Amino acid sequence: MDRAFELAELGKPYVRSNPAVGCVIIHKDTIIGEGFHREFGGPHAEINAILSVQSGDIDKLNEATFYITLEPCSFVGKTPSCANHLIETGVKHVVIGSLDPNPKVHRRGVQMMREQGVYVEVLNYAQTNANLNPGFYSAMLHGRPYVTLKWAQSSDGFIGQIGQGSVPISGQKSRRFTHTWRSEHHAILVGSNTILEDNPRLDVRLIEGESPQVIILDRRGCLTGNEMIFSLGREVWIFSYEKKEIKHHRWITVDSDKHLIISVFEAMLTEEMNTLFVEGGRQTHQAFLDGPMWWDELRCFTSKKSLGEGIQAPMLPDDSAPYKTLDVGDDELIILRSKQTWQNFISL
Ligand SMILES: NC(=O)c1ccc[n+]([C@@H]2O[C@H](COP(=O)([O-])OP(=O)(O)OC[C@H]3O[C@@H](n4cnc5c(N)ncnc54)[C@H](OP(=O)(O)O)[C@@H]3O)[C@@H](O)[C@H]2O)c1
Repeated sequence: MDRAFELAELGKPYVRSNPAVGCVIIHKDTIIGEGFHREFGGPHAEINAILSVQSGDIDKLNEATFYITLEPCSFVGKTPSCANHLIETGVKHVVIGSLDPNPKVHRRGVQMMREQGVYVEVLNYAQTNANLNPGFYSAMLHGRPYVTLKWAQSSDGFIGQIGQGSVPISGQKSRRFTHTWRSEHHAILVGSNTILEDNPRLDVRLIEGESPQVIILDRRGCLTGNEMIFSLGREVWIFSYEKKEIKHHRWITVDSDKHLIISVFEAMLTEEMNTLFVEGGRQTHQAFLDGPMWWDELRCFTSKKSLGEGIQAPMLPDDSAPYKTLDVGDDELIILRSKQTWQNFISL
């Protein structure tokens, strides 16, 4: 199963809203096939693993054991049902990392195979699967993207200074972490004041990787289109209660009775995006923290520098459990996770 998870990891950057899944086929202690879900809409891990089996080993499939990180799907979507495919292939023994959180599949994949005489074992890898696929778990269980809040604060608890533009707080090593995280998310979101004050690029440039979709909350429609973010050749989405247009970008005017963040969640899921990285400023973070379960993870760098005064960092939420703490150069990184979110993810 560990090898199956290693394979799943390889597909992670390419599967969009699908889960990253891996599969290993073992016959008498020898691996005869391996596969993973390689691309959104493409064949699933089990199918790729079967395709990898050498022609001389094909008759061994019905005596082999399939190790699959996540429950095989039970319905016909972009691809045929994998549970069915395993049954039709004559597979007799399947070991699954954990059940699929997708309500359309949950327990059904297992049930379908058991009804056809397949011996199915379900292991307890829910935490590993949720760590690998937080966006998929969040979309399936909470109907919204997985939301990670990130900020850097001074030793005396400030994230910036009023009217000073972008104030360097964290060190170079922390910035590289941030660029890696950006590349691992489908979208990055900031508030309009951060755009006006800091004029950021919000792309991935300190490491190799794809830049996420930029989303801006601009309740009162303050942005003009002259800010740098609009000149980088990437379409930006702006959510506002005001009507406006910025050429080559997507201005989304939201009904006044709807929260902007709800509209962001809906638009992302429609575009098969399920991980959101929020990079401030304070009001924006606070809006996510104050919402009804609108955040899942928080990554906060605290530097040794003090600012003396400025914009205060958001308050750390009550519903949070320490996940990791580490030194990154001269900064301390704390990662917290929402207890509620992670209880829901692993109690399946
Ligand atoms: N150290 C860091 O990690 C870091 C990161 C980013 C930014 N910063 C600093 O943070 C400062 C900007 O922060 P800020 O707090 O002033 O502004 P901000 O969060 O960047 O932007 C505020 C925007 O969010 C909107 N907003 C406020 N509450 C909202 C809610 N409940 N729902 C939806 N939208 C909401 C505001 O609407 P209205 O138009 O109605 O006000 C405004 O459009 C800058 O100085 C920047 O340097 C620091």
